[in-house]
Amino acid sequence: MFEKLKGYRVEEQKVYFQYEGAGEEKEPCVEVISDSIINVFVDYTGLGHRSRAIEWEQTQEGDTKESIRSVKPESVSQNESGVTIKTKKVTVVVGDNFHVDFYDCKGMPLSLAHRGERKKNTALSASLLAFLAKEGHAAAGSIIGDYPIQEVRSLDDKDCIYGLGDKTGFLNKRHYAYEMWNTDNPNPQEDNFKVLYKSIPFMLVLKEKGAYGIFFDNHGKTYFDMGKEGEDYYVLGADEGNLDYYFIAGGNLKDVVADYTWLTGRAPMQQLWTLGFHQSRWGYETEEEIRGIAKGLREHNLPCDCIHFDIDYMDHYKVFTWNKENYEDGGKVISDFKDMGIKSVTIIDPGVKVEEGYYVYEEGVKNDYFVKTPEGEIYVNEVWPGDAVFPDFGNPEVRKWWGEKQKYLVDLGAAGVWNDMNEPASFRGPLPNDIVFTDEDMPAPHSQMHNVYGHNMAKATYEGWKELTGKRPFVITRACYGGSQKYTTGWTGDNHSIWSHLRMAIPQLCNMGLSGMSFVGTDVGGFGSDCTPELFARWLQVGCFSPFFRDHCAKGCRVQEPWQFGEEVLAISRKYINLRYELLPYLYDLMYECEMTGMPIMRPLVLEYGNDENVKNRNDEFMLGDRLLIAPVVEQGAREKLVYLPEGIWYDYWTGEKIEGSCSFIRKAPLDVCPIYVKAGAVIPKYPVRMHVGEDKDELLILEAYPGEGTYTHYQDNGEDFSYRKGSFNTYQIHNQDGKVEIKKQHEGYRDYGKVEVKTAVEAFK
Ligand code: GLC
Repeated sequence: MFEKLKGYRVEEQKVYFQYEGAGEEKEPCVEVISDSIINVFVDYTGLGHRSRAIEWEQTQEGDTKESIRSVKPESVSQNESGVTIKTKKVTVVVGDNFHVDFYDCKGMPLSLAHRGERKKNTALSASLLAFLAKEGHAAAGSIIGDYPIQEVRSLDDKDCIYGLGDKTGFLNKRHYAYEMWNTDNPNPQEDNFKVLYKSIPFMLVLKEKGAYGIFFDNHGKTYFDMGKEGEDYYVLGADEGNLDYYFIAGGNLKDVVADYTWLTGRAPMQQLWTLGFHQSRWGYETEEEIRGIAKGLREHNLPCDCIHFDIDYMDHYKVFTWNKENYEDGGKVISDFKDMGIKSVTIIDPGVKVEEGYYVYEEGVKNDYFVKTPEGEIYVNEVWPGDAVFPDFGNPEVRKWWGEKQKYLVDLGAAGVWNDMNEPASFRGPLPNDIVFTDEDMPAPHSQMHNVYGHNMAKATYEGWKELTGKRPFVITRACYGGSQKYTTGWTGDNHSIWSHLRMAIPQLCNMGLSGMSFVGTDVGGFGSDCTPELFARWLQVGCFSPFFRDHCAKGCRVQEPWQFGEEVLAISRKYINLRYELLPYLYDLMYECEMTGMPIMRPLVLEYGNDENVKNRNDEFMLGDRLLIAPVVEQGAREKLVYLPEGIWYDYWTGEKIEGSCSFIRKAPLDVCPIYVKAGAVIPKYPVRMHVGEDKDELLILEAYPGEGTYTHYQDNGEDFSYRKGSFNTYQIHNQDGKVEIKKQHEGYRDYGKVEVKTAVEAFK
């Protein structure tokens, strides 16, 4: 419908275009958001931007809406090929058919509109579909055609694609197709799954030279064909809404992540204890049982900071109630755990049981807080409590109410909330698309609000806890949208105790980190199916380096606490949980870096070594920050690992052996060894092992210094509240020259460590 370009007009940072053939359509618009971020927008709905991700509430002071919108194009001009808009970092050329091309500041193409023919897949005939269905086969090739809203862009031969949130499969998403529609599918997730619990419509493209990102900010159902339909282009599609995407030009992937998280908000610092080990299970049916778990952890000398209370703790799965029959007095068990140094996190689902006299249901009905059918009846489906209704979290008043409801848990002494089933999941078929929700100030159908339901629930929960406790709220979510990282951490939902899911955990968590969700983890040991001792040991070795470290499994599956698999696995578990506790200050520094820059805690190697061909598709290694490389064993029976190290000098964490990088080699890896490598010149800050983080965290800091030269910034604060945003923190600049360490305080605003001990790491191994 956009044919020949007729003209343009500039309004502040926006350029509007007039096209032949556009009829009554709104004028498409290109807006300069910053020197490297460009918004491309066609207001098909006439409602303007309705972003739920870009809320302009940056966690850092200073990034206000005004300052973001203050950058204007350096120049706008027109010639035969179209209208050229220049900023300091990117040149945008807008031509006929609303083809938008992006070039870097040197004029090298970064991303061009696809102008060639598309390879239409032959539509599968009804008779072929019926034939395939006979033995239960679904048609594998989807019938990709045109979407009502779509953008088709070129791919170069060497382009690799990352991000897209929590998708299954491999790190590099090129040649695969996905959809964004938050989905609870308990079947074992395979590479061909198109949807999972989260929808983060953000992709990063690494080119031979340079990188860019596209945030396709449409929270309806969207489609990402990443070069499956055609080798040399990708398709972004949507069923409804606007064409609204943000192009992020970057020199490398780090620039793109920094800009994306600047735009949608950065994962803020969590409380220090959240980095500890968490124990969970669905099916701790009685108070006695869950008390036994706390006792077991301490008896087996296993550090642990948190036990999760799954739905078993509720009275008939009614949210904000306590199961007094099996669990007696909630406050007592939580406060007894506290005395043992163990925090309690309680699960809360969105589905509110339909039951007269139940206060949450009654309040919601009275105030009109539940979503409705188009006929105006409260919509009922089934979740754990049976018939249930769904709070309308898109309504600010409902979010406020839900935030206040958290007081029930705060008063019991809980330390955080685990938001589950918030796709929303429903047992009697999916919610119909026309169920009526609210989108802030107007009604909106389920089809529009589905993908932001978990996001809005997390926002309500975060805001409630912040208000009630003044501490950094610890929220974990299953469903989310782009930008949810401002409010919540996440886990990958119901995986299985199978080796392929351990392997999948690495690219999945790495891609989530690239998509802004840095504080994430999988259910260690696997949720569904029965774990084996070997799988548990190997999973724990990955989990111990994941930002969120929780052992969780399903009711009815083999018990899965670290002591359930015999002495050998218990000792291995202890070894790695202890290591996790030693690394707490390093992980905390990474969390600080994440809030400052958006860089994820757990990183694919390609984020650090984007020019190295050997890491673009590396699925079985990852980095913690930029100086620890983890090469876990993820194959059943394997007792060695083929390790690849990128350029530079590395040290084997366990033996101190020096290795020159840019090479592959085989590392012996008996069951108790997860190969770990430290970059030359690194300083790794450590705490002594402790049973929980609250024990003397500021007493002793150990600095492990590796040969070589390097500078490192260490961060320290009270680990609990927001006073750091007002300056109550210390940063130390640490310079290491072959173990000779100089420490300078950069920022002083918090108490000192009792003692700082420097250890020459490699010497220690001799
Ligand atoms: C869902 C969650 C799982 C939880 C279970 C019971 O399946 O994903 O983690 O244990 O519900 O609440």
